[in-house]
Amino acid sequence: MRVPPPRPAPRPPAGGAGPGFSAAAFPPPPPPPPPPPPPRAPPPRRSAPPRGGAAAPVAGGSRRAPPLFPGPAPGPEAGRKGSIFFFFAGGGPGGGGGAPRPRAAGDLGHSSFLVEFGGKNLVFDPFISPNPAAAGINVDEIRADYVLLSHGHGDHVADAERIAKQNGATLISNYEIATYYAAKGINVHYMNHGGKFRFDFGWVKYVYATHSSVLPDGTYGGNPGGFVIWNNTDGCFYFAGDTALTLDMQLIPMTCPKLDLAILPVGDNFTMGYDDATIAAEFIQCDTIIGCHYDTFPPVKIDHDAAKNAFAAKGKRLLLPAVGGRIGGLKD
Ligand code: NI
Ligand code: MN
Repeated sequence: MRVPPPRPAPRPPAGGAGPGFSAAAFPPPPPPPPPPPPPRAPPPRRSAPPRGGAAAPVAGGSRRAPPLFPGPAPGPEAGRKGSIFFFFAGGGPGGGGGAPRPRAAGDLGHSSFLVEFGGKNLVFDPFISPNPAAAGINVDEIRADYVLLSHGHGDHVADAERIAKQNGATLISNYEIATYYAAKGINVHYMNHGGKFRFDFGWVKYVYATHSSVLPDGTYGGNPGGFVIWNNTDGCFYFAGDTALTLDMQLIPMTCPKLDLAILPVGDNFTMGYDDATIAAEFIQCDTIIGCHYDTFPPVKIDHDAAKNAFAAKGKRLLLPAVGGRIGGLKD
């Protein structure tokens, strides 16, 4: 009979949570992980893999030049690595705080993000053109090197083909969804659960999500997932996709570098709600969470203050940014 390995020692808190969040402040980066154990290290030892993996950063951050989407000129943090931009994160214009706001009927979409990482532009789950709350964003102006799809539902893939084709971007998803887009002439990279791959911007690991997946035309969409992405210059973040709270999230800190940031659904009904998401944040050992998949229609409306307070009660920070808003780097 196998004896279960001992529980790993609790990790120390991230060094210095820093001041309250501002547009340019994320928690400072954790110290670099220790070197991997020697080959004959005792088996219970669990050691995060090193962050290394990205190609050399693009000199001068030249990808900044074209506008990413209409709006105010970039702030002083422009040119940083690892910045995160929001096409739409739920909450609607000005949805960064306060009580829930009235939303237009038919206002859909929750989980679209543009992340500049490793000198490349990564677009996640693009649902922009059908979304009235994202009407100020011109999909044709979006610059993408990669399009990452967590699952096949329409509120996550609506603009995937358009963005991928107009940029010649590579689409990353599970085998079934990648196959679907490959048939449309799009460059794809196939992944599946538990696998990681070193791209030119860093490592991507496709991880478990508890949800469903079908493409808008009824094509089978494989099993839904999320992405953990890291390199040694920009940090490490988790895009959960649509998911329930699941114990599998505990595997992430055991198999990936320390998370600097996680994007979690908080809207309830179709995914976990913010209460469960506070437990998810504990499972993944991450202190800074961006909420998504909320407020877009009645079943997923949330009380912003209550949600933020639920995270604060656990010493964590929930950000509910406005559509089209931007936040600072993962690591600076
Ligand atoms: Ni979904
Ligand atoms: Mn969804």
